Amino acid sequence: MTGATVGVDLDARAYELDRAHVFHSWSAQGSLDPMVLSGGRGCRVWDHAGREYLDFASQMVNVNIGHQHPVVTAAIAEQAARLTTIGPAVANLQRGEAAQRITAHAPEGMNKVFFTNGGADANENAMRMARLHTGRDKVLSAYRSYHGNTGAAVVATGDWRRMPNEYARGHVHYFGPYLYRSEFWAETPEQESERALRHLERVVQAEGPQTIAAILVESVPGTAGILVPPPGYLAGVRAIADRYGIVLILDEVMCGFGRTGRWFAFDGYDVTPDLITFAKGVNSGYVPVGGIVISDEIAATFDDRVFPGGLTYSGHPLAAASIVAALDVMAEEGIVDNAERIGRTVIGPALDKLAAEHPIVGEVRGEGVFWAIELVADRTTREPVDAATIARVKAGLAARGVLVFGADNRIHFVPPCVVTEAEVAEAVAALSDVLADTLEIR
Ligand SMILES: Cc1ncc(COP(=O)(O)O)c(C=O)c1O
Repeated sequence: MTGATVGVDLDARAYELDRAHVFHSWSAQGSLDPMVLSGGRGCRVWDHAGREYLDFASQMVNVNIGHQHPVVTAAIAEQAARLTTIGPAVANLQRGEAAQRITAHAPEGMNKVFFTNGGADANENAMRMARLHTGRDKVLSAYRSYHGNTGAAVVATGDWRRMPNEYARGHVHYFGPYLYRSEFWAETPEQESERALRHLERVVQAEGPQTIAAILVESVPGTAGILVPPPGYLAGVRAIADRYGIVLILDEVMCGFGRTGRWFAFDGYDVTPDLITFAKGVNSGYVPVGGIVISDEIAATFDDRVFPGGLTYSGHPLAAASIVAALDVMAEEGIVDNAERIGRTVIGPALDKLAAEHPIVGEVRGEGVFWAIELVADRTTREPVDAATIARVKAGLAARGVLVFGADNRIHFVPPCVVTEAEVAEAVAALSDVLADTLEIR
């Protein structure tokens, strides 16, 4: 038997086992048809039979350093040989090094890290800290947001995933800026920013500022559409939080650690949060982990008072070792700079050209390696294409060997930060072919 034949058998076995025994996220299980993947390197992944794909989804928009970076996999293996697990109450060198590496990228006055298992529980615990710190109850967050799948995080989420799960209390939603589909009849980014801020402040006033513990915001909303904030917006949110004594939590789970071409997405704006939540890009998902970077003021609240929260795997040594190695290679190899440069000089111009050539593209927006392509049935009315069209585009791309992230009427073009110019050209050419085919079918 050839290697390819063995591979085909392994792919079939993986598929069969999955369909028999694995229950998937956010899905009706009966109609699922998952792709089998077994290996990867850099921006590419492949199945057992050797069929290769360019991973322009970075899986869940988390594999920022690319797949299987050898320095990071070696650091995990080394840590596994030394000590695979240890309780959260002890001091452990790798945990401390990981916390120090993370706070080194945070603003001054943010010196402590609480580690969680992922992004949702980072937000869950950040909201808890804000509530205990302020003695207030409510949390404000945007309708266009995703904050994770735990009790409060999913209710802080704005999108459809909140509605079947609304058991937590004290959550209020507002509209953030999104000029292309403005809720505020705005025609310029400046108008959108000003009016979205006025709306947010009116929500704060109408809810009663003395009842509001936190405003939770994705610095750049990701799954909701890669909505790069207009000028002055995040600084304006900070000013509103300050005016009413509200804690500002910036959710950097998807947009942090290189995705926007900056270490933290908020580095591009004139804003300092009180709490930063992170996960995904901090170690590119090599081991599950998330956490909160905490301001000195909020950390001090818990100097003499118990923080009523914890996890068996808070600061797990394999996760900690992977964070240290991932952040070190990101710095040493200029990976964040690559994301910034390739976004500005290659991806942005290539997607603008694509938009000019294909009337189905309503808008392209993004920065770094964080781009959304909004597909519309009509450019004048901006009517979104339907889910079937997005499914066809995704399938067409996969058939041409390119994986992307699909959300609502959008294709998210979100490769690892290490992506090269040639890989971008390959993915854009495939997308151009698929969009031309899609228009023909419609
Ligand atoms: C902005 C944001 N916050 C939180 C989460 C939840 O992270 P996790 O899936 O690691 O719990 C996500 C996941 O996509 C996210 O994009």
